[in-house]
Amino acid sequence: DIPVITIDGPTASGKGTLADVAAHALGYVVLDSGSLYRACALAADREDIDLNDANAVAAIGANLNLSFKRGRVWLDEDDITDALRLEATGLMASQVAAHPAVRAALNQLQLNFRRLPGLVADGRDMGTAVFPDAALKVFLTASAATRAERRHKQLISKGISANIESLRQDLENRDARDKNRAASPLHPALDARMLDNSLQTIEESVELLLNWWAE
Ligand code: CDP
Repeated sequence: DIPVITIDGPTASGKGTLADVAAHALGYVVLDSGSLYRACALAADREDIDLNDANAVAAIGANLNLSFKRGRVWLDEDDITDALRLEATGLMASQVAAHPAVRAALNQLQLNFRRLPGLVADGRDMGTAVFPDAALKVFLTASAATRAERRHKQLISKGISANIESLRQDLENRDARDKNRAASPLHPALDARMLDNSLQTIEESVELLLNWWAE
């Protein structure tokens, strides 16, 4: 049985960083499930498909030609690494993620990431829907103020200017959409460990996760 650790939580709570560092420490594979929703939304948008058309977007999702090479993400022949991270792409991702048919198409891709020696999967429904048998489930949160600040720093470090107040507004809107949708709404699994990292360094969160894993 291939071990899985899931890390779910809201936008900019630090899931990606925690997943990467923990996976590196354990020598495990990482699944950033959000990037699949982002890529699916981008692919549909590029083909001028209406993002409200669940079946058309799901067909795109089922046939996504994604590859991960040298830290970059490719969609067909295009390097979409930078486009994937745009706020606009995150918003489109949360739109397509509300369609059950799109989720079903992408779940299949996500299950394929379960490989030896183990997987750390980050997203919204990794512990509740995609890997319900995961050995460790973490639900990661941080205050909206902290998350807006982190997202702001991330953007500034890439030379993108941004306004903290509007970032906070965007992330709260996206959280609301993720929590209130009918298909796999964002919520902690019954057996999830709750981790609020607002006041923690990344090292502290990683240590806590690795201690839980060793229990
Ligand atoms: O880190 P951030 O929240 O900015 O974005 P993300 O994790 O890349 O996810 C982008 C969007 O995809 C989220 O707002 C969710 O609507 C959706 N998503 C999802 O529904 N299920 C997942 N397992 C991962 C992402």
